[in-house]
Amino acid sequence: MCARIIVVLAVLTGITGSPNVTIRSEADSVDMLAHPNSVPETVEETELFGQQEVLEEEEAAEDVMATGELNPNHYPAQRAAKVVQHYLNTRYGSPYRLFGLQRVHSGNAEDVADSGRKYQLEISVQEMIGNTTEKCSAEVFFAREEQHRSVEVQALCKDILKIDTKAQEEAFYQQCKMNQSLLSAQNLPDSNGHIEPDMKPLWHLGTVASSFVMLNQSTENTLYNMAQVANITQLPTENDQLKFDCHILLHEMVSQEIVHWKLLFTWSPVGGVKVPHMEQLPHCHDCERSTNTN
Ligand SMILES: *[C@@H]1O[C@H](CO)[C@@H](O)[C@H](O)[C@H]1NC(C)=O
Ligand SMILES: *[C@@H]1O[C@H](CO)[C@@H](O)[C@H](O)[C@H]1NC(C)=O
Ligand SMILES: *[C@@H]1O[C@H](CO)[C@@H](O)[C@H](O)[C@H]1NC(C)=O
Ligand SMILES: *[C@@H]1O[C@H](CO)[C@@H](O)[C@H](O)[C@H]1NC(C)=O
Ligand SMILES: *[C@@H]1O[C@H](CO)[C@@H](O)[C@H](O)[C@H]1NC(C)=O
Repeated sequence: MCARIIVVLAVLTGITGSPNVTIRSEADSVDMLAHPNSVPETVEETELFGQQEVLEEEEAAEDVMATGELNPNHYPAQRAAKVVQHYLNTRYGSPYRLFGLQRVHSGNAEDVADSGRKYQLEISVQEMIGNTTEKCSAEVFFAREEQHRSVEVQALCKDILKIDTKAQEEAFYQQCKMNQSLLSAQNLPDSNGHIEPDMKPLWHLGTVASSFVMLNQSTENTLYNMAQVANITQLPTENDQLKFDCHILLHEMVSQEIVHWKLLFTWSPVGGVKVPHMEQLPHCHDCERSTNTN
């Protein structure tokens, strides 16, 4: 387990692939390649707007959590920073507003009495659709496992949260609301990494909804990226929230696992994205047999 790992991290609301699966995405001009076959298990390669960030990690022996000043490129700082991305998406995400972690500038971790660990971070956050980037400070608190508490996040960003996407959201909302047929899509992105332009708002919505799961599931030991919206279906509703059912694939980069979740979520320009139901599915060949948990 002391293997030296070279990680080229997905620096954005990731489009990632498992080592020998290639999921290549051109979504929002983001390109990402996971090399098939050739590479060691833990290698990921992504390209963000043509720019690559190579992160190296000496995987320290088992679970000794780094404390004090952190190397911004190493896992502990990256994992905590990734949680901030998911948090921002759950709070401010929309079909036209999607946040990604661009880079970590600095990080500090400290133990908090017996209750958990707190990370202080300076990061660059990117709004992926309008392509604007801003430096934000954030604090992430992971409670100790036995407390079964969610991670707590505070983030201080300014302008990036105020980007005005009302007009586009309203137009998309009306289009979904008025159309006789309900929207649906599969494989966003497809195996060539492609997403039809008119399906991009659905991909963004699915990604924002996925951030609720990734935020909920994140611990100090995980690093979740969005891999794919396997399918998404608009459901009929009586109220003014649009309702969607979707099946998503997340990539947990520490274990290199692809995990499947089924989500029910709602969205409206005023109400934002809400995820009333999330359910992890067993490995895919068992998907159909999964039971509903409410
Ligand atoms: C994919 O990787 C897994 C383990 O990482 C390996 O067992 C499997 O044979 C690989 N498949 C292909 C097609 O290379
Ligand atoms: C995003 O913005 C950066 C910096 O302003 C620029 O270099 C890059 O080309 C832009 N990317 C896209 C896809 O527009
Ligand atoms: C995840 O969400 C479920 C259901 O909303 C909640 O009961 C649980 O406490 C959350 N877990 C964490 C670690 O946030
Ligand atoms: C309604 O949905 C269909 C199928 O998704 C699409 O082709 C059509 O352009 C939509 N109409 C409007 C007015 O958005
Ligand atoms: C959605 O995708 C998953 C995974 O590929 C698949 O198992 C499931 O049957 C699909 N559901 C629908 C309704 O297409």
